[in-house]
Amino acid sequence: MATKELTETDAAARLAELAKEIARHNRLYHDRDEPEISDAEFDALVRENAALEAQYPHLIRPDSPSRQVGAAPSTALAKVAHARPMLSLDNAFSDEEVREFVRRVRRFLSLPEDEPVALTAEPKIDGLSCSLRYEGGRLMLAATRGDGAVGEDVTPNALTISDVPQTLYPGESRGPAAGGSSAVEGWTPAFAGVLEVRGEVFMSKEDFAALNARQAEAGGKVFANPRNAAAGSLRQKDPGITAARPLRFLMHGWGELSEPLGAAQTEAVERLRALGFPVSDLFRRCETIEEALAHYAAIEHARAELPFDIDGVVYKVDRLDWQERLGSVGRAPRWALAHKFPAEKAETTLERIEVQVGRTGKLTPVGRLTPVGVGGVMVANVTLHNRDEIARLGLREGDRVRIQRAGDVIPQVVENLTRDEERPTFVFPDRCPQCGSEAVAEEGEVDVRCTGGLICPAQRIERLKHFVSRGAMDIEGLGEKTIEEFAASGWLHGPADIFRLRDHRAELLGREGWKEKSVDNLLAAIQAKQGFDPARLLFGLGIRHIGIVTARDLLKAFGTIEALAEAAAGENGIAELSSVEGVGPVVAEALHDFFHEPHNREQLADLLALARPAAFVSQARQTEWSGKTVVFTGSLQTMSRDEAKAQAERLGARAAGSVSAKTDLVVAGPGAGSKLKKAEELGVRVVGEEEWARIVAEA
Ligand code: IVH
Repeated sequence: MATKELTETDAAARLAELAKEIARHNRLYHDRDEPEISDAEFDALVRENAALEAQYPHLIRPDSPSRQVGAAPSTALAKVAHARPMLSLDNAFSDEEVREFVRRVRRFLSLPEDEPVALTAEPKIDGLSCSLRYEGGRLMLAATRGDGAVGEDVTPNALTISDVPQTLYPGESRGPAAGGSSAVEGWTPAFAGVLEVRGEVFMSKEDFAALNARQAEAGGKVFANPRNAAAGSLRQKDPGITAARPLRFLMHGWGELSEPLGAAQTEAVERLRALGFPVSDLFRRCETIEEALAHYAAIEHARAELPFDIDGVVYKVDRLDWQERLGSVGRAPRWALAHKFPAEKAETTLERIEVQVGRTGKLTPVGRLTPVGVGGVMVANVTLHNRDEIARLGLREGDRVRIQRAGDVIPQVVENLTRDEERPTFVFPDRCPQCGSEAVAEEGEVDVRCTGGLICPAQRIERLKHFVSRGAMDIEGLGEKTIEEFAASGWLHGPADIFRLRDHRAELLGREGWKEKSVDNLLAAIQAKQGFDPARLLFGLGIRHIGIVTARDLLKAFGTIEALAEAAAGENGIAELSSVEGVGPVVAEALHDFFHEPHNREQLADLLALARPAAFVSQARQTEWSGKTVVFTGSLQTMSRDEAKAQAERLGARAAGSVSAKTDLVVAGPGAGSKLKKAEELGVRVVGEEEWARIVAEA
């Protein structure tokens, strides 16, 4: 390759060209199934890009093809549902937030002030989480986290990692091959039932540097950081590639278990260590919060010397019966917390301020920067959050700024270094830059929103893109560009129109870039989404604050989207929604606003008639209480209201806020008033707290 002759300016221009070209060919190949060039020609482009990047690492672009980690290979991996959801963690950035976490735990469990709460503390490894499922002592399945409910099957790849035990036979970590049919004669597995061990797959700093050097030399992909390298290496269709990459594994938890591992996190971790799973040397049990914070300080001090990247410390409540009672809210357990290290900072120039319109109409200012490296990653864009933030920092195009990047949070500006210099002030638009409608901030709100609703093409198109995206309906062949193209043709107004695209088959065939095969593939991919997961469809509607986990919680509580819509639109909607585990007032209000709007309900009815989603399958236990409605009233003595609601959810029941003829059970504590009276009038069964505890224990 003749890259050596290029000047730096030429190299930058060529990298820009390559980024565009490779992305275009990727789209042609993956979205359209109509490649214009051969695989070998495509590989040559990728190699040219890698070689240039290796030579000029400071010119690596944020949209560089080498940074689109795993995107291509991941489409080829099979999806697997997790037996227990893979949760994420709430973050804390100060000692005070950690103290507040422990106070919350105490409140939830109604613990007396002097009851000690022991915590475990261990490094938060910057890798990707992986769940390893053993049955009968053999590794049967390894899966990535995915969206927490559904991940990707990476079993053959995980088998190539030497830290991952293939079998759980005493003193024999490489016993009978995984998936094989017979156990070794005379051996009994050290754990014979179902055991799902969860932990982090990562690459050491040293191995990462050596891998990148090798890759650059061979003209392969150069990775931006060890985490991307680990993810790209594990999520491969060909396990041979994974085997050649130096991946490591450290365990930090578990999923489904056929028998308990112990009474405390510490005990369970020791048990897993004995079974052959590597545990961090920095894992500690801390009797007090002070001890935990001291361990945080020690880990932070050791950070630079550690062989791998970490971005904080994870605390967990040690007692497992308490963890069980605490449960989780949304995506995060109430019994664990990530205490992050302070962010990394850098200085650069704010070249331009652009205002984007999102799918909920929010106008978001984005800062375009002179690219700068922050903690090993090139940053070229920052979010400027909103109008007030620009004013607070006094930002104008041309200012020098200090930016910071914390973990996986989007980089942001923390300081304007040239505030005193004379420069024209930035005027935030009062009209939507996309449709020209008025853009206003509601009283008490900082966000400025376009009032154009669905007449605003940006909102309509962003919603449609979200609807078909991977986490939502995941319609293959219907990428962002195609959505834009179809919307411009007037074929797509709302999501239901996607299911009407088949009416445009003939016109589509007459278009450039569309052949019989690609059109048929697209229409088949759409057709295949009839009868799809209702939670993904609900998430795909793009209602503010409704992520996939909340969507599942809502369906668990209401059964169908129609029932949810009816409840949310009703007079009592906000109260009823707020009584669902994982739904707070903000989410309840967003749902009410959405479903209250007749236009949205019309669109939804149209969509449901065409998409006909499947029945919702809950991951909650099936008990005689599944689908029943329970109301808690009065003051509860042995548990908090939140805990009581969580218990009901775990039985598959719904905890409601008010008593009606549909209520199946009322749990009344001392001081119960009108709800108890109403229950008695309606003849609803009423029990005390003790009886409720018995129901929970026996269900
Ligand atoms: S505990 C139920 N412990 O951090 C709690 N997670 O931000 C789930 N991670 O998805 C995880 N080191 O991939 C735990 N020592 C540690 C960890 C750790 C890294 C990752 C994990 C999780 C993510 C959440």
